[in-house]
Amino acid sequence: MTTSSTLPTPSYISGRPSQRPSQRPSQRPSQRPSHRPGPAGRQALPKPFIKWVGGKTQLLSELIARTPARFGGYHEPFMGGGALYFALQRAGRLYERNVHLSDVNRELVETYLGVRDQSERVIRLLADHPYDKDYYYRVREQNPFALGTSALAARFIYLNRAGFNGLYRVNKSGGFNVPFGRYTNPTICDATNLRAAAKALRGANIHNGSFETVLARADRGDFVYFDPPYVPVSQTSNFVGYAKGGFDLGMQEKLARTFEKLAAKGVHVMLSNSEAPWVKERFSDFHQFVVSARRNINSKATKRGPVGELIVTSYDPRELAREASVRPRAARG
Ligand SMILES: C[S@@+](CC[C@H](N)C(=O)[O-])C[C@H]1O[C@@H](n2cnc3c(N)ncnc32)[C@H](O)[C@@H]1O
Repeated sequence: MTTSSTLPTPSYISGRPSQRPSQRPSQRPSQRPSHRPGPAGRQALPKPFIKWVGGKTQLLSELIARTPARFGGYHEPFMGGGALYFALQRAGRLYERNVHLSDVNRELVETYLGVRDQSERVIRLLADHPYDKDYYYRVREQNPFALGTSALAARFIYLNRAGFNGLYRVNKSGGFNVPFGRYTNPTICDATNLRAAAKALRGANIHNGSFETVLARADRGDFVYFDPPYVPVSQTSNFVGYAKGGFDLGMQEKLARTFEKLAAKGVHVMLSNSEAPWVKERFSDFHQFVVSARRNINSKATKRGPVGELIVTSYDPRELAREASVRPRAARG
């Protein structure tokens, strides 16, 4: 391990803005979605380039099994690490589709924009970030929004890979306050995956905003996947504060109403949440599937057991699969 005194301090960690906010890239993609299904040997990439609490990697097979067989555009308004998005990309299910990814976390969204539009710069900057405790705390002190997009993205990925358990947590004034994580030789810069993710994201529309903005974007026949912070199963497991302000029951209710409006419009909607009684009751008009996943929220390894999770769909996944299998080949979307 290198010590901080021997480390160079690149200009982008000195706090000097290298790019004015107005010069940030547009949130609209430059091209149509481009990720063609590759040959079988190359199916492992792209995958999420950040670790994210509540990330859906453990639940992927259950989610994919309930994804509509046919759909128009794809919308993921709680994108986080985007586990399902990247899985659908790997499977070639999003090829030439209209894709909209969004999240309320502005820094996360800017990071996706940096990876989508300036991946080589992000990789270069990230490769310069050493895994070192003092250096980590110096980077943590920076104001991300005073940095240019690529430096912001490199900083975000660095803190995510080198910080404790990949947590994202900010204090009252918005400063990132996750402590340094102890790893043996962590991969800070996975250039191959970052390039694969950039290619997959090239055609995606990426927005910063709350989930309900999806109402204005999703059309009949589109597919929306909601993965909100979960309703606590018990009083003690109240892990719902991903963003400033948290995600309380009022927000869960607003989400349920958004789900209903989309379903009424003929949009295919899928939601994952905890198996809490409130969720089961609130979505009792829809299709429900209890599945189990191993969660890593608890810092004590002994307490990380399989937990029950609920998948809710506005459609019967088996019926949509049957319909697709009887349609003539030429008519498939
Ligand atoms: C369970 S995580 C999503 C995980 C993601 N599916 C994955 O695979 O990594 C929930 C996400 O919702 C975001 N979020 C919280 N409140 C939100 C809101 N009101 N609108 C949109 N996103 C929100 C958080 O920033 C977080 O990224």
